[in-house]
Amino acid sequence: MPPRKPTIGILTGGGDCPGLNAVIRAAVKSALRLGYDCVGFLRGYEGLVDPVAYMPLDRQNTANILLQGGTILGSTNKGRFSALVGEGERMQIDPELLNHAATTVRQLGITGLICIGGDGSLAIAQQLHEYGIPVVGVPKTIDNDLGCTAFTFGFDSAVACATDALDRLHTTAASHERIMVLEVMGRHAGWIALHAGIAGGGDVILLPEIPWTFDNVCRKVLERESEGRKYTLIVVAEGARLPDGGLVHDKHDKHGEDGNERRQVRLGGIGEIVAQEVARRLDREVRALVLGHLQRGGAPTAFDRVLATQFGAHAVRLVHNGNFGQMVCYRPPNIESVPILEAIRAPALVDPMSSAVQAARALGIGFGDGINASPFAQ
Ligand code: F6P
Repeated sequence: MPPRKPTIGILTGGGDCPGLNAVIRAAVKSALRLGYDCVGFLRGYEGLVDPVAYMPLDRQNTANILLQGGTILGSTNKGRFSALVGEGERMQIDPELLNHAATTVRQLGITGLICIGGDGSLAIAQQLHEYGIPVVGVPKTIDNDLGCTAFTFGFDSAVACATDALDRLHTTAASHERIMVLEVMGRHAGWIALHAGIAGGGDVILLPEIPWTFDNVCRKVLERESEGRKYTLIVVAEGARLPDGGLVHDKHDKHGEDGNERRQVRLGGIGEIVAQEVARRLDREVRALVLGHLQRGGAPTAFDRVLATQFGAHAVRLVHNGNFGQMVCYRPPNIESVPILEAIRAPALVDPMSSAVQAARALGIGFGDGINASPFAQ
């Protein structure tokens, strides 16, 4: 039985991250106050099509989820919907699927569909929008690689997790005079590595955005040793390229649930390569740790709860005002919105000249590129 009041639909797409439930809660609470009913589609965009799967969202089933990791609606980064293949390339969604999604939205009397996702999920939202489905986007990802927003929610929580890992590695590295390598997520952007590296007192940070060499990494270790510091913490982003330009990833491409090949690779493994090569060159004890999906789990930080809450409330405001095809974004100190198309045009990468990188260099943190900035460098 379709709901009778004007209704807002909500879905979470792609990889999960802390703060998804906080967005859902905020959207539902503010939508109810404006007189809407809410439904949540299950397993991302899959819930819009055969078999259509949704649940009513109300005060009861969204109570106490602010601090809950994951998403009560479920999500998938596979499935029949896919609008991105590889980096920035666009793939046309099957028109039959679009038609089915549009029918579902119409039949349920959905005024606006809030799509919470990263670049892949928002690329799908954009195609839904172009098909005439009233969508609003909310930027989610631990990677912080979406354009037009200073931060995505989930990022701060991932950084907190990686920082905690570094804090723990610090004490054991110091006790055993070891070199420790921490591999963090982030896909092709080095945001998590940079921020956790700074927050967790890393000595070397290897990013996709700054080419580096093993010589320079080893030089930093030796420099520290000559100053009496017999241990070194190296933070490496999973998407950092090896000195020969190669990415480290699994051999197999992802496959969608429909059997169609996707050209997205699963990054990972560079930490072990860095550890082995540094151990070989310096004849030191080196250990590598891959932090992996721990970065995606658990409760959101206070910052992410506040950001997610603002995003959820603002998304409802956009629906209420009929501003479709927009993505909410954070432009400090304001929450604003931009066309989804603008936000997904290109990934947001770390600027090697940014103040965060320069501050790190001023402290003597190495980026493996041999630049040894003096604290007073211009
Ligand atoms: O985009 C979020 C992210 O966690 C990336 O940092 C990582 O490369 C990828 O997803 C992992 O994907 P999966 O959960 O499919 O292994």
